[in-house]
Amino acid sequence: MCGIVGYTGTRQAYPVILKGLKRLEYRGYDSSGVALLKDGKLNVYKKKGKVADLEETMIGKVLDAHVGIGHTRWATHGEPSDRNAHPHSSASGKLAMIHNGIIENYALIKQELLNKGYTFTSDTDTEVLLNFIEDIQKNNNSTLEEALRIALKRVSGAYCILLIEQDNPDTIIAARKGSPLVIGIGKGEHFLASDASPIIEYTKEVVYVNDYELAIVKPDELILKNLGNEKITPYITKLDMELAAIEKGGYDHFMLKEIFEQPSTIFDCLRGRLDAKEGTIRMSGIDHNIDQLMNANRIMILACGTSWHAGLAAEYIIEELCRIPVEVEYASEFRYRNPIVNKGDVIIAISQSGETADTLVALEKAKENGAFIFGVVNAVGSSIARISNAGAYTHAGPEIGVASTKAFTGQLAVLMMMALSIAKHKGTVSHERYHSLLLELEEVPEKINAILKNASALKVIAEKYKGASDFLFLGRGYNFPIALEGALKLKEISYIHAEGYPAAEMKHGPIALVDENLPVVFIATKDAYHEKIVSNMQEIKARKGKIISIITEGDTTSTELSNDYFAIPPADELIAPILTVIPLQLLSYYVGTAKGVDVDKPRNLAKSVTVE
Ligand code: G6P
Repeated sequence: MCGIVGYTGTRQAYPVILKGLKRLEYRGYDSSGVALLKDGKLNVYKKKGKVADLEETMIGKVLDAHVGIGHTRWATHGEPSDRNAHPHSSASGKLAMIHNGIIENYALIKQELLNKGYTFTSDTDTEVLLNFIEDIQKNNNSTLEEALRIALKRVSGAYCILLIEQDNPDTIIAARKGSPLVIGIGKGEHFLASDASPIIEYTKEVVYVNDYELAIVKPDELILKNLGNEKITPYITKLDMELAAIEKGGYDHFMLKEIFEQPSTIFDCLRGRLDAKEGTIRMSGIDHNIDQLMNANRIMILACGTSWHAGLAAEYIIEELCRIPVEVEYASEFRYRNPIVNKGDVIIAISQSGETADTLVALEKAKENGAFIFGVVNAVGSSIARISNAGAYTHAGPEIGVASTKAFTGQLAVLMMMALSIAKHKGTVSHERYHSLLLELEEVPEKINAILKNASALKVIAEKYKGASDFLFLGRGYNFPIALEGALKLKEISYIHAEGYPAAEMKHGPIALVDENLPVVFIATKDAYHEKIVSNMQEIKARKGKIISIITEGDTTSTELSNDYFAIPPADELIAPILTVIPLQLLSYYVGTAKGVDVDKPRNLAKSVTVE
């Protein structure tokens, strides 16, 4: 949450920062701002709303500067407004700072500063930290870097901060704990950002800054230190990402582009790993740790949001194929309770961004208790990927749309391969079943293509139901997590209230909601539960609910019961969730756009949730 960008070098800083902020807008879009440093003058501009609103207010201003920082905000402390927007200026006006994270003990520090006579112009924890740093700098007569180090030893919480100082014309000082920071290394210039997307255009050489590290960044110099003031050699990595991957490529929205990318992202995810002809799955993270994984007493899956839904699907699949007990937990719950984690437990962490604060902290806690952490992560080099003992990337490429789509199907594909691999080693899956599932997995990209060819049919359905005020999504077995995901997608990007439920449970409550105005989406593909779900459809029809069903091609029973339906190619029930979710992604996309929602940036949401 919150995107940060910094630049120091020979280019004009403002255009670099502005473009960077647009790329990072998925992280928050309540307000944005920039601070530019030129000839010992610090100018701060900020505006409530999206980056485009800031851009408009900047027209006609003299923005000549070669050093600057910029921020796009997802509000935590203080409502979205001009005065709460970042950058914040210190009391003397000599420092400007941007921050991604939360300073948990800000109230205590604020009181100390209030007692000293400080006043505040915003409601943010960031302004408190900034004045705290300046106060230390003044009292100790120290450099900004020293003051920052002292201040950070006193604060608790999460931060990635960038600071610039009037008297320090070409330097940006940065620090991180819990919120991401990447530094791009150019020729006589440096770029700083929350992720690589603002940097990729200029350089592929980057340094991922670690927790408790400070960076002193000048055009020609990058110094990394720990909080003990010891120098650390920056570890330079090469970005494996192309600019095209973070652009819309002719689509109206990133979300639509990402939905349509799924045949190729799943192909990339399987490529070099799965060989159905040979009957092999090769994933180094699994192969090197197979004993640990197959002998796990228990597997716990920790995740949030859509990734949690992938975890729930994995529970069903792993228990079925591997016969290992699996528990799926919201990371945000796990971290605050007193969970039982033993040596020999395997934790699977699932995360698109690899930066979700709740998941990250939950993993640290599990690791302390001796658990083995396996990360299923999309963002290469992210914090969760780095703290995992082993893992497998989903290889879905950068996901920009706030509502997760291609990362979710990538997670399902990786988890399926993982389950098959463990099951094969454990001997808990028959030879025939193993081979047929491998073949089915290999066919997924082609089947997704077939679904996408009929996307316009979902647009028609969306038009018909866009006026509904509530939706119910029902599924059984392997498709129950998909019902949850379908409901979440619709809520996120159309603002229509939606509930996902196990189809059999609906008679214990949600059925009371059913009337002629309620669309009920059934995920009713041909599987072991099919007859049961058909009975549930009958129950809804008897109460005049409107049935929209996702069915297997050729299933006439379901079509007769449905007001509208969308057919997908036949698939094994374990594989079906990767397919059934696609029409639900499209349905929510078309409902959202029909309602005029900015589906890539739905209100109040952010993609990389680096606060609790
Ligand atoms: C946010 C996003 C969701 C995502 C969730 C977990 O809520 O809007 O799309 O599923 O965070 O994020 P992660 O990056 O850990 O998968």
